[in-house]
Amino acid sequence: MCGIIGYIGGGDAAEIILGGLKRLEYRGYDSAGAAFLADGKLQVMKKQGRVEKLSPLLKGVDARVGIGHTRWATHGVPSDINAHPHRAGGFAVVHNGIIENYAELKAELILGGAKFLSDTDSEVVAHLLQKNYNGDLVFALRETVKVLKGSYALMAICEGENRIAVARHKSPLIIGYGADGNFCASDEPALAGLCNTITILEDGDIAEITSGGVKIFDKFFKPVSRLKEPNLAVSASLGLDGCPHYMLKELRETPLSVEATARAFGGVKDSLRKELDGIERIILTGCGTAYHAALIGKRYIECFARIPAECETAGEFRYKNPVINNKTAVIAVSQSGETADTVEAARLALSLGAKVIAVTNSHRSELTRLATVVVPVAAGPEICVAATKSYTGQIAALYLTAAVLAGESVYSECAEKIEKIPALLTRTLEDLDMRSLAHICASSSGVYFLGRDLDYAVALEGSLKLKEISYVPGEGYPSGELKHGTLALIDVNTTSVVIITDEGLAGKSENAVEQVLSRGGKVAVITNIAEVEERFSGKLPVTYLPKCDKLLSPLLSAVAVQMLAYKAAAVLGREIDKPRNLAKSVTVE
Ligand code: F6R
Repeated sequence: MCGIIGYIGGGDAAEIILGGLKRLEYRGYDSAGAAFLADGKLQVMKKQGRVEKLSPLLKGVDARVGIGHTRWATHGVPSDINAHPHRAGGFAVVHNGIIENYAELKAELILGGAKFLSDTDSEVVAHLLQKNYNGDLVFALRETVKVLKGSYALMAICEGENRIAVARHKSPLIIGYGADGNFCASDEPALAGLCNTITILEDGDIAEITSGGVKIFDKFFKPVSRLKEPNLAVSASLGLDGCPHYMLKELRETPLSVEATARAFGGVKDSLRKELDGIERIILTGCGTAYHAALIGKRYIECFARIPAECETAGEFRYKNPVINNKTAVIAVSQSGETADTVEAARLALSLGAKVIAVTNSHRSELTRLATVVVPVAAGPEICVAATKSYTGQIAALYLTAAVLAGESVYSECAEKIEKIPALLTRTLEDLDMRSLAHICASSSGVYFLGRDLDYAVALEGSLKLKEISYVPGEGYPSGELKHGTLALIDVNTTSVVIITDEGLAGKSENAVEQVLSRGGKVAVITNIAEVEERFSGKLPVTYLPKCDKLLSPLLSAVAVQMLAYKAAAVLGREIDKPRNLAKSVTVE
């Protein structure tokens, strides 16, 4: 998944494309590139690494038409050659998505004499455009997409034509209408500050963009008009508020995220109750951190509403021929609302007759457009690739969703309980000192997060966060599973972080602590139970959290494991906000 932007008009195309690419870096930062038409001639510049490395190459470009790309590598290593745009003769193309049948198309094109330079799937599109061209770029693009399988948002330019041709299938693409020209982009943030009105293209659409206007064709190549909407993306760049990284800033915004999410929930509770009336089964889905929030949501639903609930990662759910009918609700959890697997899981659920509830921080995304009801997560913009405040916001939203399903009195009780959490989170953030444990984890060969029930769900998230930003290997395990395999990995170089917030299960998790200690492994405990603290204090590093309602304790322990990951990554000098190989928004499978 990559970020793409195009511009045609009276302005400085190089400056506009560069600005857009900077705003799009959250979609990938393996390489950046741009193509321009200057005096009718195609110029292509590209460079491995961040957008800032592309910037010097664009100096002196004097063009009114351009397309740009920031890459998250899927096919071919990050390199100058594999960077987009890809070129064939006078044609240049940028692509977000995956061309699944690229190998066979490439073989055919090579037989026809095409010379490929890159290892990417996308380069076939440039060669196909060249092959299909009969003097009309839009026609060539139409012929090209007919043979493509997979997902794509494409932008193409060619020598001799003063326009941009675009097409979309399963990957988002929008058009922006500016005062001095028109734009296209993979999402709204790319166009922040550039235009006030946008159109979100539909699957199968192809469009021609000139400085004077936009023509859109549907999948049958019939001219169509699509809705024009206000561009909601804000151009103000978000400051760090004195923090060295966005991750720390965003972690500190967790109390606000929970508070605002709980407040926003009031606006949706009645429609949610209405849509979920009569539902007999609920499936929660999402990817990565969002999936970990869904695991907690499942527990809430079963605990409050006693409706059978299951949880499946979206990438698995899609391909398992799920048993779904109109008595099923699928809750799709996603910060961005654009994650390809989650969006496709939602689409599949709808096609099988289920209601889809989107729990998302992005209030105008592919997922929100599809959903039967949107439960807002009001975390605000999250810049750091690693999710923090959006995860806690998702947990809060799922807690209230489950409470609504259980009826008004449970809901009122839960709404009151969650109101107390922001203050406890503020206290937690003020008191947390993870520095020495972070040093221990940073020098460990493996870090294992253990817990039972809800603590296990948080253990999974703690492990993901630590791996993601510090690159220290490890796993999250249910404490009870330790002795069934993982214990073999424990030695003096490993650290186990045991989360214990459930009084009823504390004794069981304490066993896990003893088992690791007796095999020589280092152990640390995160707890809010005084007896557990007393038992281990002075013998092991113990992080003591404020006491809160048992079901809401993941909100506090999540902040503890996120802070631990942050500090460990800082000890190791990692690039915390942009970890290697990752991107914030994962719009490909
Ligand atoms: C990890 C992280 C990812 C995302 C996942 C889903 O810190 O951020 O695991 O949670 O890529 O993204 P969304 O929530 O946008 O669907």
